[in-house]
Amino acid sequence: MSTNDLDGKAALVCGGSQGIGLAAARALAARGARVTVLSRSEPPAQDGFAFLRADLQQIETLIASLEAQAQPAFQILVNNSGGPPPGPILDATPEHFLSAFRQQVLASHLLVQWVLPAMKAAGFGRIVNVVSTSVREPIPGLGVSNTIRGATASWAKTLSREVGPFGVTVNNVLPGATRTARLESIIKRKAATSSQEAVEAAMRAEIPLGRFADADELGAVIAFLASPAAGYITGTSIPVDGGRLHCV
Ligand SMILES: NC(=O)c1ccc[n+]([C@@H]2O[C@H](COP(=O)([O-])OP(=O)(O)OC[C@H]3O[C@@H](n4cnc5c(N)ncnc54)[C@H](OP(=O)(O)O)[C@@H]3O)[C@@H](O)[C@H]2O)c1
Repeated sequence: MSTNDLDGKAALVCGGSQGIGLAAARALAARGARVTVLSRSEPPAQDGFAFLRADLQQIETLIASLEAQAQPAFQILVNNSGGPPPGPILDATPEHFLSAFRQQVLASHLLVQWVLPAMKAAGFGRIVNVVSTSVREPIPGLGVSNTIRGATASWAKTLSREVGPFGVTVNNVLPGATRTARLESIIKRKAATSSQEAVEAAMRAEIPLGRFADADELGAVIAFLASPAAGYITGTSIPVDGGRLHCV
């Protein structure tokens, strides 16, 4: 496989300061893309990414300011951010749902509307959404997240059918348990009633490959979906979960 198949392409990676987003940014850069990271805090300086400081919760303000600037055209958009706070769905407030919808669905939607004209002009576009295996099987204790992931997947599927004729693909990556700050906080929360080691062992026991993913393994799949080689894949949700899902 060529490692420079994204030469000349510009990628905007949301939530790229750490975790899966940072791994995606690195994998895209390794294939030759010029990467801009969008997040509230800066990515590591040594990566040399362009940086757009922004809060996806303030998406309308962000889009207005982007439209006022002469931003480079992006052919690749990675929609990614932090997951909604965990908790039983019965405890969720209207604000929890609205905040998650704003960050996970509305922000992605407005960013797509912003980048799409350049993708259409190039006859090439790649939109990759980082979602969750809860699209297929809801995860106990992640009530708001489960709900909003389904909405994201339906939005993405609908979008894929509308933008396909312009050479733009839309796909979702569904991470399983992946070693990032997000996973650490989920483990700590579960460990309130037992040890962290016991929680991790119970989680690993559910994964046929017997381990958590490294964020780079997610980054590699995201970069592949962004590449020319993935040009006939659209409207899909691809689990990267070590086989944890029970459904086909
Ligand atoms: N890790 C897992 O095991 C796992 C499993 C399934 C699904 N997922 C999902 O995959 C996605 C990424 O997970 P992760 O583990 O990489 O998470 P993470 O380590 O918490 O990283 C989240 C990234 O999103 C950015 N971000 C968060 N809120 C933001 C906001 N309001 N505006 C702009 N940027 C924001 C963060 O940067 P700043 O704080 O600098 O803004 C950070 O770069 C999440 O949706 C998560 O729920 C993760």
